[in-house]
Amino acid sequence: MKIAVIGTGYVGLVTGTCLAESGNDVVCVDNNAQKVATLNAGGIPIYEPGLEELVKKNHRDGRLTFTTDLAKAVRAARIVFIAVGTPQSDEGDADLTAVWAVSNAIGDALRDVPPGPPGSRIVIVKSTVPVGTNRGVAERLNAKGAGHVDTASNPEFLKEGAAINDFMKPDRVVVGVRRPEVAEVLRELYNPFLRTERPFIVMSPESSEMTKYAANAMLATKISFINEMANLCDRVGADINDVRKGMGHDQRIGFQFLFPGPGYGGSCFPKDVQAIIAMGRHTNLPLKLMESVDLVNDDQKQVLGQKIRFHFQNDVKGKTFAIWGLAFKPQTDDIREAPALVLIDELLAAGAKLRVHDPEATANVRAIYGDKLTYCDGPYGAVEGADALVIVTEWKTFQNPDFEMMKKLLTTPLIFDGRNIYDTKVMQNLGYTYYAIGRGK
Ligand code: UGA
Repeated sequence: MKIAVIGTGYVGLVTGTCLAESGNDVVCVDNNAQKVATLNAGGIPIYEPGLEELVKKNHRDGRLTFTTDLAKAVRAARIVFIAVGTPQSDEGDADLTAVWAVSNAIGDALRDVPPGPPGSRIVIVKSTVPVGTNRGVAERLNAKGAGHVDTASNPEFLKEGAAINDFMKPDRVVVGVRRPEVAEVLRELYNPFLRTERPFIVMSPESSEMTKYAANAMLATKISFINEMANLCDRVGADINDVRKGMGHDQRIGFQFLFPGPGYGGSCFPKDVQAIIAMGRHTNLPLKLMESVDLVNDDQKQVLGQKIRFHFQNDVKGKTFAIWGLAFKPQTDDIREAPALVLIDELLAAGAKLRVHDPEATANVRAIYGDKLTYCDGPYGAVEGADALVIVTEWKTFQNPDFEMMKKLLTTPLIFDGRNIYDTKVMQNLGYTYYAIGRGK
């Protein structure tokens, strides 16, 4: 099928590349000429494992191209994906400026195109958008004289760092359509990825838009829930790691997404929780649970700082801290809403010196903090001469360090672990003072 994907951000690029890989003819469109030039030269603007190779391969084979010419790409395509950003507005709503601008441009491009049978041209919204947006896109197409074009909703459930795998082997594909013919075209498009009995779920655009928010809201709720339990464990002398296991074997609860930490970050959960709260506000339904999830997460981003203040009796001035992990999670260079930034701000304000290390995100952090931090290429370099190590992101390379050597590099054997990656007993036996999340200290 001929496909145009508007927006070469994270979602658009992964979607376009994976659909090219399954044999479609894909044009990715972006209004940023520099980005398009980079992509045409075989470079990718984000770090995502496996993506660069796939982009290069499909580009070389001619199935994946990049352009700034939206009208041409849209006119040639049977399927147009809208995958532009929906950032958070000042009021917490999703800002739909880019979605509306692109809808109008698509409408202009398709105005003179003769109508065909149902499903012969489909504009699909992949961006995360509030309920009612699909209807808004259809209205804009109609106002431009392209009302014969079908619209659909098809949210993405990709995780950064695992996006290619998530697209190729989805837990499910959700589509929201007004006409069954449109669903059939989409089923054909996704068929190569549904081979192993993966569900293709058809519903209305409104339900599909809501599914995306409800799914992320549920995941964020699980994290805030376990973080609250962990904080209570700290106070009552229980170990959240044991509690987590004891709970998770109940199949109704399960193990996934119940790892306590320094709070969730990234470009999705914080923004989507705010957006669902805004949807409630607009419909006079205060979403009390969602508001609490958000508040608990804001507080959780302070937890490492609190433990550090407690240990140093509120005096960290002149102390040096090594920080391992700056990205909001491993396998990405993304630092949006990252808990590490909250900690860095707090420690800098208190007069501490920071030696930071992250396998991928250093350049993004340097762009914010410049020479206020010392950037270290490796984890051991960061620890050298530091008064304590703080772990904020659980990169695999941090899992099994040489603890004996680290004892020599640190001025004191002291670790604040925001991700519970080490065994408390082992750390004690090694002679470390070890603070973790919800494990009694
Ligand atoms: C999330 C969802 O997992 C995807 O399904 C969704 O498609 C995506 O948002 C989106 O809306 O685009 P992502 O933001 O890439 O994906 O990252 P996650 O792996 O979900 O992690 C989010 C945050 O939660 C991270 O800060 C992570 O450290 C934290 N987390 C996750 C925990 O603190 N504990 C856990 O048990 C799991």
